[in-house]
Amino acid sequence: MFTRQRPDPSLFPRLLFFVNAALPALLLGWDSFNGRLGTNPQEYLIRTTGMLTLILMTATLTISPLVKITRSPALLPMMKVRRMAGLFTFFYAALHALSYSWFDKELDVRLIVADLLRRPFIFLGMFAFILLVPLAITSTKRMVRRLGGRRWNLLHRLVYLSAIAASVHYYLLVRADKLLPLAFATTLFLLLLWRGRDWSRRIGQP
Ligand code: HEM
Repeated sequence: MFTRQRPDPSLFPRLLFFVNAALPALLLGWDSFNGRLGTNPQEYLIRTTGMLTLILMTATLTISPLVKITRSPALLPMMKVRRMAGLFTFFYAALHALSYSWFDKELDVRLIVADLLRRPFIFLGMFAFILLVPLAITSTKRMVRRLGGRRWNLLHRLVYLSAIAASVHYYLLVRADKLLPLAFATTLFLLLLWRGRDWSRRIGQP
């Protein structure tokens, strides 16, 4: 007799996330191809990819607390979206860093290094991005096995340092209305606070 396999409950949330996270890149590509990025396409690309990175980073860090706080079984499959969300964050961060290096600095390493030393917000952006690199490299199941769960978890806490650097990067570069950068920084701070409480509780457990 054949037993009917139940469909993977994480399939729908993964598909939904994939479509929503991939769509901005496709639209950016399409609009660039058709020359529809406004009067300053370079700035448009740098700013849009920067904002997408921050939104996706915040979304990635929100999944665990949301599932654990609500304890809703309906949200449990969202836990399987985290890896994809993290990889999309890295993808947009890489596009953002590449747009800046290419359009602003014409891929000239000396100009980039000089800018890193001159403008603290560029330094923090680069720091936030570099911290994401080992996380992206070790995101596969094989790497989790190779590193072991404990070491992998420790390494992946770097995402919080990256998030702090990214929020300060955004706060420093905005000159006039700081409301949005402050809203992102507060959200990330609360997520970090929740994580800290979660870790300290687990350490306290026998
Ligand atoms: C995780 C990494 C990063 C995040 C989350 C991030 C986020 C952001 C955000 C939210 C903006 C503002 C977008 C807007 O104005 O609407 C921005 C702008 C910008 N970022 Fe980043 N960024 C990151 C990494 C980097 C890196 C690596 C560089 C270059 C080394 C960089 C250079 C810039 C520049 C030049 C701008 C535009 C500044 C301006 O228009 O005055 N960022 N970024």
